Amino acid sequence: MEARRRDRLLKALDIEVWTRRDAPGTSPAADDAPVIDAPVERASYGAAESRAARMPPPRTPPPPANPAPLSLLEPTAPEAPAYVAPADWQGLADAVSTCTRCKLCKTRTKTVFGVGPTDAPLLVIGEGPGAEEDARGEPFVGAAGKLLDEMLKSVGRSRSSNVYIANVVKCRPPGNRDPESDEVAACRPFLDRQIELLQPKLILALGRIAAQRLLSSTAPLSKLRGPQHAYGPAHTPVLISYHPAYLLRTPSDKAKSWADLKQVHRFLAKG
Ligand code: URA
Repeated sequence: MEARRRDRLLKALDIEVWTRRDAPGTSPAADDAPVIDAPVERASYGAAESRAARMPPPRTPPPPANPAPLSLLEPTAPEAPAYVAPADWQGLADAVSTCTRCKLCKTRTKTVFGVGPTDAPLLVIGEGPGAEEDARGEPFVGAAGKLLDEMLKSVGRSRSSNVYIANVVKCRPPGNRDPESDEVAACRPFLDRQIELLQPKLILALGRIAAQRLLSSTAPLSKLRGPQHAYGPAHTPVLISYHPAYLLRTPSDKAKSWADLKQVHRFLAKG
């Protein structure tokens, strides 16, 4: 009688043990944990209850040592990869001609890439194309451009032989307004690649906008003009002078512009 009762109890315990171990959601780690209701406990069910109080609490998987911060678990917008401009002149010119990186592409007629020999020691940088440049696709071809050509000629330089001319932005800002910072930033990889490919001995930036944008400065032209600056990873020397459009309006400053050109000439003559 006693033996039959014990058998019934053992059977009942067996059912409980296996159904608990096989319960859905039981993790493999929990499977590895010591089974507290091991057969030794089954030998005396009545004792098991009183022993339970002395047993360590059932093992639950420990929390991760360094739980990932919530912010890492939440979906975040992937960062846009930095634009890498084509590494050769033709690829670069093609990329500029089809560029839609900023809103200026909606109003331009032609992109204005740059002009001059690609081994020129002098790079002249203006702020952006005007109406005539936009129509023709070449920088400095209007009235200001004609004056620029004369200024360069006076120190033995020209776009056909030894000066490369480009702008901070390659598309005309509507109504000849100043280029905005997002437009300058969108166009910067093109200018930077032009500088990298050209490796000029000297950059001459014309006017406040070109100078400030190139040097990422808010200083007035009067402060930027005079000292020699440096640009980019190659620390290319940079000089600043007046924009020819300004000189057309303010001919009295032509003497100072002439002094700047002589400084350019001296610098390049050093070799
Ligand atoms: N002004 C500029 O800055 N660039 C041009 O190409 C023409 C006028």
